[in-house]
Amino acid sequence: MFQNSCRLSFVTFLCLLFLCRFVYSQLDYKFYDYTCPNLTTIVRSGVWSAIANDTRMAASLLRLHFHDCIVNGCEASVLLDDTSTFKGEKNAFPNRNSARGFEVIDTIKANVEKTCPSIVSCSDILNLAVRDAVFLAGGPYWSVPLGRRDGLTASETAANRDIPSPFEPFENITAKFASKGLGIKDVVVLSGAHTIGFAQCFTFKQRLFNFNGSGNPDPTLSVSLRNNLQNICPNIDDSDTNLAPLDPVSTSKFDNIYYKNLLNNSGLLQSDQALMGDNRTAAMVYYYSRFPLLFSKDFGISMVKLSSVGVLTGQDGQIRKNCRVVN
Ligand code: HEM
Repeated sequence: MFQNSCRLSFVTFLCLLFLCRFVYSQLDYKFYDYTCPNLTTIVRSGVWSAIANDTRMAASLLRLHFHDCIVNGCEASVLLDDTSTFKGEKNAFPNRNSARGFEVIDTIKANVEKTCPSIVSCSDILNLAVRDAVFLAGGPYWSVPLGRRDGLTASETAANRDIPSPFEPFENITAKFASKGLGIKDVVVLSGAHTIGFAQCFTFKQRLFNFNGSGNPDPTLSVSLRNNLQNICPNIDDSDTNLAPLDPVSTSKFDNIYYKNLLNNSGLLQSDQALMGDNRTAAMVYYYSRFPLLFSKDFGISMVKLSSVGVLTGQDGQIRKNCRVVN
């Protein structure tokens, strides 16, 4: 009898432990409400001054966040500098001389540490900053569930493997998203981020002069856009790092013109225009080009999904003091 009741309470204890861990490991909209009530104000003012100083920063933060989450989850690994024990993600091919916004996150983190030391993760700061950046660029606003913790390592190899390349086939790109639990709709919606920001010429130049070794330009690229781009990116190596807007119609405004551009054969990257090469995604492009409010709504939904990929919660990871180094 005694043995039975002992066994029962042990099982109950285990169940409670499991439940506790399950509840604890969920993200929560009110996570810092008591421990850092000024968090959203501090982040917003940091993002506001960064964008006031450089409009492109909204785009750069958004991309930084994507490159964090798609590589081993949203645990701020992209922010870590290289160390003697690991080669980080900053110098991976898609990020080197390309990823921007590290200093903005450093400044916000330093301000957050002054008020709430060792409370708020770099990962949550990046998430909130991106939400505000998109909103300040004229895009949607969404609620960000919080409580992520920061990773203890970063991987150059994983970044080179997992970040989609503009040159790879569309099926490879969708497979990379799928491996993180993101579906084809998320690919179309999140690609709408290319409504703001810039790309270096080398990321699309082969479309202008020698598409897939054919000696001719990409036939799916509008002739007038091609002429403009050939001025920005003449056919010489020196032009490789020149910048062209991803959405030349409204470069700094977060709107749905990206999708209208695709309908006009005016996607900048080959991977952008590829959305028109598949019936399912082409139908979605058409839909978002017609219904900007539905794009805004779905963008918020897909961003929350992206921001939940591989998060560390509870006792996992840590709260970094400095986003560039593990404590
Ligand atoms: C679908 C696969 C994707 C590919 C192949 C891709 C590729 C690229 C490339 C090549 C650039 C230009 C980088 C440079 O020249 O330095 C770029 C810029 C950018 N990407 Fe993507 N991207 C993809 C998806 C995304 C997603 C999902 C987001 C965000 C949710 C995003 C946000 C951005 C932004 C905002 C920029 C401009 C950054 C700036 O101006 O600093 N991209 N992307």
